Amino acid sequence: MTQPQTSADVAVIGLGRVGLPLALSFADRGLRVIGVDNDPVRLGAVREGVMPFQETGAQELLERVHGTGRLELYERVADAARARHIVITLGTPSFSHIEIDMRDIRSALDDLLGVLTPGHSLILRSTVAPGTTEFVAGYLAKHRGFQIGEEVFVAHAPERIAAGRFLEEIDTLPCIVGGVGARSGEVAGELFGVFRAPLVQTTPVQAELAKIWANILRYANFALPNLLMMDCERYDANVFEVIDLINRDYPRGGIAQPGLTAGTCLRKDFAFSEERSNAPGMLLAVSRVNESVPLFLVEGMRRRLGSLSDRKIAVLGLAFKADTDDERDSLAHKLVRLLERELADIAIHDPHVPTPTAPLEQVLQDADVVVVAANHSEFRTPATLAEISTLASDGCLVVDPWNCWGSGQVFAYTAELAPVGVTAAAAGQEVPPPPATDRARSRGRSPSDSPRIR
Ligand SMILES: NC(=O)c1ccc[n+]([C@@H]2O[C@H](COP(=O)([O-])OP(=O)(O)OC[C@H]3O[C@@H](n4cnc5c(N)ncnc54)[C@H](O)[C@@H]3O)[C@@H](O)[C@H]2O)c1
Repeated sequence: MTQPQTSADVAVIGLGRVGLPLALSFADRGLRVIGVDNDPVRLGAVREGVMPFQETGAQELLERVHGTGRLELYERVADAARARHIVITLGTPSFSHIEIDMRDIRSALDDLLGVLTPGHSLILRSTVAPGTTEFVAGYLAKHRGFQIGEEVFVAHAPERIAAGRFLEEIDTLPCIVGGVGARSGEVAGELFGVFRAPLVQTTPVQAELAKIWANILRYANFALPNLLMMDCERYDANVFEVIDLINRDYPRGGIAQPGLTAGTCLRKDFAFSEERSNAPGMLLAVSRVNESVPLFLVEGMRRRLGSLSDRKIAVLGLAFKADTDDERDSLAHKLVRLLERELADIAIHDPHVPTPTAPLEQVLQDADVVVVAANHSEFRTPATLAEISTLASDGCLVVDPWNCWGSGQVFAYTAELAPVGVTAAAAGQEVPPPPATDRARSRGRSPSDSPRIR
């Protein structure tokens, strides 16, 4: 097989939350790596040895790789052709037209067209709509006349790792590889074989579908308890008690817990399937349920307190999920925007995100409402609950769709939460929520006694 004249083993184009940990991991396995990103600030941080975002263990990894000289950084995509394998980890947002936005990928392809030579492999690690890998192969064949799978290799090896778990899961999660033509899968497998995770060879479109539908499954899984939470409010029922009734000792249970479900992947990946769906609208409905949770919470506050104008509302958490600094597509921001439209006085605290926020004590002081938007571990402690009880105004409404303190109520007043906090403090940590019937008993009323508080 022809080998291109290369000075590196692998190039990673797009040093974001997927690309940078991947480039560092390749270098850590002894490969000579080229990292490409068009953001000079990001490249500057990496050159200085500073991770531009939080990823467990990545700062130490960056420092380890820094001294080896195995990571070279460039701004131009064409420099990626100095490596035999080229991995694309660029963003793939969706247009509001329910269609993948491939502009970054198209632009990188155009930059690479003139510099690719026989022997190169191009591997899409980004999440893409079904058919995109074949499109990329067709594009290279059309414009350069390459025999894909014989001369130049094109494959999809989707990133399936969860934020915060990269370094653990790169060696454990099965790595799906869908290659175009005779040998692309094998060539991509040679590269990803440097990790210990098992390789699973399949077709390109099956690799694309597997990645997208894993995210669709999660998105729909969370929409169900979110819809149930809204239904429970309508029927004056307690969602946590209903979930406990569904799941307890029932072999066909397993419904998830409610919460704010979003983030850059879940919010857009369903659109890649929806763009050619056999059931147009089904997944849009899933999206609409998750997207309406912030409004549901604001309306729940209004039902209990009346106008929110001039009320102090403490928002805990801006990130899209627990224990990350990633705010992209977070529903916490949507919640804040909705509260602004109610003319509320909003104070925000998040210990992780880059957006500047206020200290916890300042945010809680005299708050009329405390709403947990992201369930960071820092919040899920008896100490935080005690601070809310001490600092917030008398009769403060606590809005907690995550059930952070095991109270089992989406909307509760601080007086109701105090006994839960005392129990948890006595145990020295979080306590799991008691079973539904016990919780009802411990509150001294039946599950449907209190129409106002859920
Ligand atoms: N973030 C996740 O947890 C995650 C998980 C699985 C899959 N994915 C998928 O992986 C892909 C990348 O996601 P991400 O979160 O790492 O995105 P990101 O926005 O964090 O990273 C993209 C990087 O590409 C750079 N870039 C943009 N245009 C460029 C260009 N023309 N040339 C060079 N660099 C350019 C940006 O500066 C940025 O650093 C997406 O398809 C996403 O859906 C992400």
